[in-house]
Amino acid sequence: MTIGLGIDTSFDDTAIAVVRGGKEILANLTVSQFTDHQEFGGIVPERASRRHLEMLFPLAERALLTAGMGLMDIDYVAVAVEPGLVGSLLIGVTFAKSLALALDRPLTAVNHLKAHVYAGRMDHPDVPYPHLSLLISGANTLLIDVADEDDMTVIGGTIDDAVGECLDKTGRTLGLPLPAGPHLEVLAKTGDPKKIRLPRPMLSSGDFDFSFSGLKTAVLYMMRDRPDTSRADVAAALLSSASTVLVEKTMSAAKKLDRRSVVVVGGVAANLQIREAFAKRAKSDDIDVRFPSKALCTDNAAMIAGLGYVRYAKGIYSPIDQPVRANVSWKRAIPPRVQPPT
Ligand code: KG4
Repeated sequence: MTIGLGIDTSFDDTAIAVVRGGKEILANLTVSQFTDHQEFGGIVPERASRRHLEMLFPLAERALLTAGMGLMDIDYVAVAVEPGLVGSLLIGVTFAKSLALALDRPLTAVNHLKAHVYAGRMDHPDVPYPHLSLLISGANTLLIDVADEDDMTVIGGTIDDAVGECLDKTGRTLGLPLPAGPHLEVLAKTGDPKKIRLPRPMLSSGDFDFSFSGLKTAVLYMMRDRPDTSRADVAAALLSSASTVLVEKTMSAAKKLDRRSVVVVGGVAANLQIREAFAKRAKSDDIDVRFPSKALCTDNAAMIAGLGYVRYAKGIYSPIDQPVRANVSWKRAIPPRVQPPT
């Protein structure tokens, strides 16, 4: 059966995976750089590129060892080519091109965000096309109408912070380590979501856009004015507010587009409270809501190898001068309120 090597260096995670037949994950390894950049309060692009360069070779060796495969067993090399930090992308893509050339195997270029969306179908192949996807990560909050693996139309997105960014920044206010999402999840389990009322931004805006920067600021002011507030109650209220908005908008969009199937993907989709809120609403709305396994939610290269396999199987190979792109322009149902950077 076909063996694919997936590579992702689009941002601050170095990820390599070995996948059989586009679905069976034999190895899925990710090295996070979060602590490498902590002293700067954000990702330093040059440092990120250098860390990718240091990590790629040992990680690829370990992935092949874990999968019990050798280099010659690889049938295709899939790599994330967009969107992301250009320097970081170039490291991964150059590595992938070199391997493809040396092994004389096809190269398949993959869009990192489309791979996140595809991750839902990797775990749940019975999810039909078209379906609605909510992509929630550290950098994105997008509602996407998915016609197939390539044909996707954005119907809404955040006008400021992504939901993961809001969780990470609020976590910092609460003194949690980064990335704060998983720590907030644990903390929220012991808190009361009803004790504190936080805003539910744009809940009734009548469209499918989101805003999360006000939520972050509300917690900042609350902790400044009332520093003794229970952090567990804040975490619970924060996740409750975020879930309410995400669930409400997603389910209204599904109804408006007449989609009976919703897939929630991206790092924040690993969150327990968000999963529970969706599950509850799915039942009452009679809409099928699925999540990929947690390993396929956060940044990973198995999803790159998975989507790369679809291209490989169709014979869509990428040229050896395949470029990388920092930004991608989406097909949109309506123009975004805020123009994305060019
Ligand atoms: O998709 P991802 O791994 O990276 C990108 O941003 O592309 O998403 C990372 C985000 C971070 O904001 C992190 O805090 C959040 O996903 N996250 C979670 C959980 N696990 C990761 N947020 C809430 N609960 C979690 N269990």
